[in-house]
Amino acid sequence: DHRTETLGTEMEVAGVPLQAATVDNWSQIQNFEAKPDDLLICTYPKSGTTWIQEIVDMIEQDGDEVRCQRSIIQHRHPFIEWARPPQPSGVDRANAMPSPRTLRTHLSTALLPTSFWENHCKFLYVARNAKDCMVSYYHFQRMNQVLPEPGTWEEYFETFVNGKVAWGSWFDHVTGWWDVRDRHQVLFLFYEDIKRNPKQEIRKVMQFMGKDLGEAVLDKIVRETSFEKMKENPMTNRSTVPKSLMDQSISSFMRKGTVGDWKNHFTVAQNERFEKIYREKMQGSSIRFCAEL
Ligand SMILES: *[C@@H]1O[C@H](CO)[C@@H](O)[C@H](O)[C@H]1NC(C)=O
Repeated sequence: DHRTETLGTEMEVAGVPLQAATVDNWSQIQNFEAKPDDLLICTYPKSGTTWIQEIVDMIEQDGDEVRCQRSIIQHRHPFIEWARPPQPSGVDRANAMPSPRTLRTHLSTALLPTSFWENHCKFLYVARNAKDCMVSYYHFQRMNQVLPEPGTWEEYFETFVNGKVAWGSWFDHVTGWWDVRDRHQVLFLFYEDIKRNPKQEIRKVMQFMGKDLGEAVLDKIVRETSFEKMKENPMTNRSTVPKSLMDQSISSFMRKGTVGDWKNHFTVAQNERFEKIYREKMQGSSIRFCAEL
């Protein structure tokens, strides 16, 4: 496997697979100093991260899409656990950023640097139903040369349900963030709700951010952050990422952005098995997802 020899090395922190460079940088990440006015965008991978980042940035820029073109989305919101020496790490980028800062992470509540809790930061969490998330992550690992090869779909199914993917178990991630939502300033959103009623959900984000934009601006943000627009937007579609890191000839970074694509991948037997595993792992959680619109 050529990836393992080059970039695709993974190590674990508390049973959670992470990029080796992230683990090498772990003490810097854990000692990160959050500030009380930080807003942290939190997601499990493949759950609408770029989408919510663009929505937040459009709100911050009062709906001015030209100002949102100032840099690629990866550089607008530092990714705190990101590390690829000799480039500045996510922590370095965050430290260099003037406040108020919007940052992003895929870390679970268990691995999040404690200063975020101590400083009572705002957390914006987006959750996506597990089946679509699994499908999206599978295609992402096919094209992302930094992550391990996913193997066959059947193999990937096992890897995913066992939480042996980068950033760990989907089940632990969503339930962990769901459980802290009332104790901290968490706006907990669902990918499927944003898809179904983007204006309503974007309005919630705007209110959470303490902004007050008019209806016309909200309508514009809905338009500018549609999947079709973002797929053709070079500042969000990863077209500047070299092929050696993301090979979009294998699968696009902006692939489908729909709800229910799992039906094109799961066999009837896999779906039954998944439902059984899901019931066991999600037992005791009150979180409810919808997996079709
Ligand atoms: C990204 O957007 C640019 C500009 O619209 C477009 O030419 C390019 O094909 C898009 N890239 C991908 C991978 O979709």
